[in-house]
Amino acid sequence: MVATEILILAATALFALYYFSTKLPKNFPPGPRPYPIVGNLTQIVRPPFTFFMKLQETYGDIIGLHFGSQPVVVLNNHKHIREAFSNNVFSGRPQTEAGKQRCLGGNRGVLFAEGHVWFSHDDPRLNQLIKALTDAITDRPLTQTLAQYFPFFQWLRNTFPTIFPSKSKTFFEGTYGLIGEIIKQHEDSLQEDSPRDFIDIYLNEINKTNDSNSTFYKEEGHLQLKVLLLDMFAAGAETTSTTLTYSFLFMALHPEVQEKLFEEINRVVGNSRNVSLSDRPEMPYTEACILEIQRFASLVPLAPHHTHEDVEFQGFTIPKGTNVVANLYSACRDKKAWGDPDNFRPERFLSGDGKTVLRNEAFIPFSIGKRVCLGESLAKDELFLFLTNLFQAFKVKTVDGEPKPKVEAYYSIVLVPKPHRVVLVDRQAS
Ligand code: HEM
Repeated sequence: MVATEILILAATALFALYYFSTKLPKNFPPGPRPYPIVGNLTQIVRPPFTFFMKLQETYGDIIGLHFGSQPVVVLNNHKHIREAFSNNVFSGRPQTEAGKQRCLGGNRGVLFAEGHVWFSHDDPRLNQLIKALTDAITDRPLTQTLAQYFPFFQWLRNTFPTIFPSKSKTFFEGTYGLIGEIIKQHEDSLQEDSPRDFIDIYLNEINKTNDSNSTFYKEEGHLQLKVLLLDMFAAGAETTSTTLTYSFLFMALHPEVQEKLFEEINRVVGNSRNVSLSDRPEMPYTEACILEIQRFASLVPLAPHHTHEDVEFQGFTIPKGTNVVANLYSACRDKKAWGDPDNFRPERFLSGDGKTVLRNEAFIPFSIGKRVCLGESLAKDELFLFLTNLFQAFKVKTVDGEPKPKVEAYYSIVLVPKPHRVVLVDRQAS
């Protein structure tokens, strides 16, 4: 008798577990049916952004999923991304345990970014950090992915750091150490009336603040400043340098594009001076190359946001607390918007006479709306200056006798090209 009761109880518990962990919110966007507890996590095939495009063929542009018990909506169409992200309800960021650790235990880092060079590029400490950042970005063990949705895995990683080493943690510790040193140097030599840079201005603000609710107040102000500097470093360093790596790769693979680019640089600037931002309006082909490099690279393939409230969107109900992920990769590869998205063709951004740069609504590599990349204009200027001045001086080629490198990437927050070899030839010497 007791055995039967236990059996019935266990069966009811299992049924309840199955029912509640697979129950979808009302009017949620369509998607594959989630399994109990893990949701759709075990069904995801890496890389997720192309997997989401596959799901799009069956379920449409807006897909509803569950990562564990966390509801997730993926937007594959650039029009929907634009519409959603211009609405404040979609402007949150998913909060994870790892994210909190990164932000020194709180939801910090206002993510206000201003272009700022705070190190010399041959500073060994900076190079060490860049290496740690690249490692952290390209290394994403399974436990890290699981830890985002199941706190148990975060606990495992924290409790047994030698068994589950975290390159991200190494990067954060190293960076915060260095950032702390730099802030200290600034504090020691701070002169209120003549701030030298962003850190000085921030420190002045902290020193002036008496309101204990302010994010500038005392210790909280210092923590905010640290996370803010980390945000600027992490968001600014890897993105621009990886885009440049892509540009070498694409130009080596498309020498005819590179020659046209060089021809424009040579015609507008020549080789007796550096290219400057004021040359830009005269250089539509260069501009088109930069746009095509960014489109083809899709550097940041997914932009994760979080809803603050329940919201009706395109006929669906998206509950408060849903992670809404913009598939920026699918926007860059949208056949309807681009016609031949898999071809590298800068001309798609030019008018017939080659004189005017054309915009395309699906071009959103910096995302869109309230949380659009804060470094967008800085990044565009940097890319223009680096690219033109490098290609003014050098020709980049594939290596004779070696197979041409493939355009393949490691996937994490950014798509980093797999190691490959190209040759730089000094144009003056050749
Ligand atoms: C090619 C270069 C870059 C690309 C493709 C890029 C792309 C992006 C994307 C897609 C986002 C996410 C936006 C969203 O969540 O909707 C983002 C956020 C951000 N980016 Fe960039 N980025 C680049 C360079 C930079 C640079 C140079 C900086 C600053 C020095 C920067 C600072 C930021 C910051 C602070 C955010 C967070 C904005 C927020 O959460 O409100 N980025 N970026």
